[in-house]
Amino acid sequence: MIGDLAGYAAATYLRGLPLIQVPTTLLAQVDSSVGGKVAVNLSEGKNLVGVFHQPSLVVADIHTLKSLPPRELRAGLAEVVKHGMIADPELFGYLEAHVDSILRVEEEPLAFVVERSCAIKARVVEQDEREEGLRAILNFGHTVGHALEAITGYRRLLHGEAVAIGMVVASMLSVRRGLCEQDDLLRLRSLLERIGLPTRLSANVKSLLKTMNYDKKMKNQVIYFALTKGIGHVTLAAISDPDELKGVLAAAGWPS
Ligand SMILES: NC(=O)c1ccc[n+]([C@@H]2O[C@H](COP(=O)([O-])OP(=O)(O)OC[C@H]3O[C@@H](n4cnc5c(N)ncnc54)[C@H](O)[C@@H]3O)[C@@H](O)[C@H]2O)c1
Repeated sequence: MIGDLAGYAAATYLRGLPLIQVPTTLLAQVDSSVGGKVAVNLSEGKNLVGVFHQPSLVVADIHTLKSLPPRELRAGLAEVVKHGMIADPELFGYLEAHVDSILRVEEEPLAFVVERSCAIKARVVEQDEREEGLRAILNFGHTVGHALEAITGYRRLLHGEAVAIGMVVASMLSVRRGLCEQDDLLRLRSLLERIGLPTRLSANVKSLLKTMNYDKKMKNQVIYFALTKGIGHVTLAAISDPDELKGVLAAAGWPS
């Protein structure tokens, strides 16, 4: 949160000041400090006022994570799982093998996932800094995730928790479209559960879809979703028929 706020201030004060990000949460170390997106929320929605402002340096010291509340650590891991899902099956496998030591805040596996995540994010952002195409793959889990954060008043769920549920929904859609195997969905869900992240929420589907209309990813009544083509592979897809998403959520037992 501080990285977004200070970054936005740095981007606009005196038409821009140099910025050094010093992330102290796992989420910020593996995701938000890299890539230059800085934004603040409005009551109408999240991140609605923002700019791109690249930091000249990011200093991520994993020792700061020792004092991080466990729930925050788990939420940060959701973005690491995302990086594995979209680009790095090896990272996903590493998480499956080392989840317990990561949750014990052991240095070696934490340093590994932080470094690997930054490299993945930097690689994507280098190719598409302004989200004209490829960068949208980083939104895997975020289309539904952002809507869940909004309908729960930004209080009930941490960002990473909402993203965890969003990744499961995106993967359910992917299975339904025949893009990936049921086994990929099961591996994702099981890893998230082992981390201690939520994988579903009894949110009302109607209000979820309504809230998604305010999401920046909505263009001409089409929602663009990052979907999985199997662990480590991602694709962008347009969902123009809300019934498709409704069908998936209904099948998963979400209240209509
Ligand atoms: N700009 C981006 O690209 C981007 C990407 C992902 C998420 N985000 C945003 O980041 C926000 C969440 O940020 P966050 O997960 O970093 O959490 P946060 O900044 O909300 O911090 C969580 C809590 O941990 C405390 N804290 C921070 N570091 C600590 C430490 N080392 N030890 C003990 N306590 C510590 C904070 O005071 C706070 O109470 C969300 O609003 C999300 O939307 C932005």
